[in-house]
Amino acid sequence: ETLIELAKKMPKTELHLHIEGTFEPEQMFAIAQRNQVELKYSTVEALKAAYQFTNLQDFLDLYYQGMSVLLHEVDFYDLTMAYLEKVHSENVVHVEIFFDPQGHLSRGVRFDVQIQGIYNALQDAETKWGMTSKLIMSFLRHLSEESAFETLELAKPYLAWIDGVGLDSSEAGHPPEKFLRVFEACKKLGLKVTAHAGEEGPPDYVWQAIEQIGVDRIDHGNRALEDGKLIDEIKQRGLTLTVCPLSNLKLCVVSDMQDHPIKNMLTLGLNATVNSDDPAYFGGYMNDNYAALIHGTGINKAELFQLAKNGINGSWMAESKKAQHL
Ligand code: HPA
Ligand code: ZN
Repeated sequence: ETLIELAKKMPKTELHLHIEGTFEPEQMFAIAQRNQVELKYSTVEALKAAYQFTNLQDFLDLYYQGMSVLLHEVDFYDLTMAYLEKVHSENVVHVEIFFDPQGHLSRGVRFDVQIQGIYNALQDAETKWGMTSKLIMSFLRHLSEESAFETLELAKPYLAWIDGVGLDSSEAGHPPEKFLRVFEACKKLGLKVTAHAGEEGPPDYVWQAIEQIGVDRIDHGNRALEDGKLIDEIKQRGLTLTVCPLSNLKLCVVSDMQDHPIKNMLTLGLNATVNSDDPAYFGGYMNDNYAALIHGTGINKAELFQLAKNGINGSWMAESKKAQHL
């Protein structure tokens, strides 16, 4: 059996996935038409041709454009269900997905419309396939602390459906400490906390996420490898890194898959996991990310299993549930 086949059939978790980043061009055009919204690109081909990014911001510009056709609860349901069907077919058994409420509120789409559509799809996936999930509300870091607090207010009636909060969008110039008080409020409400850090931003942002915010997990974390003391701190705390290989390649965080640091992370004893981030934009879902690592970095069978195991241990499912998957 090849490693690729093994990667495909092993039970997997996905811990770093933006639901708006699963918007495939075909579905985007279909929903745009249904909602009578005009897209900037006239064909699926023209849109796909634009998916060439030199950095995070290049991608984010298209990502916010793409999500702008999402207006109604059914749109959020359809988007989420299409993703869940896809990863169910890839033997993903548990997902922890981000949504970006501020990316929709700013266009007049109410919080309840967004979360109801996403939540119903997550529930249906559990009923149909036993696929379990967590929902993570992510704050857009290029917006203000005040805007994040307003979003948290809107979320309060839905806290039973929200497991944690995250921090995403343009990293450089928007350090975690900008949201220190928001995350304090979230923790008081019993929410788990994670943050994108060290994707483009410096190791200092990872330090801030750990020491000031007190994150339960780190999204990306690539640039933590530049700081030996930081590596020790992440290890000592047993923090999981949600690494996204194809994302790193497409956003030029790494210049070649052969240079991807995930093997090194494992060797250093870090709890690295494999995730797809924004699969519709970055060229692949979970199994494609594993395949890219197998072909590009030559991870071996033990490393493959370690990555999958880290995904279960780093998830926010109950310890008793983790045991069932290990
Ligand atoms: N980084 C930051 N913000 C994001 C990303 C990402 O990879 N995907 C969606 N929003
Ligand atoms: Zn991300």
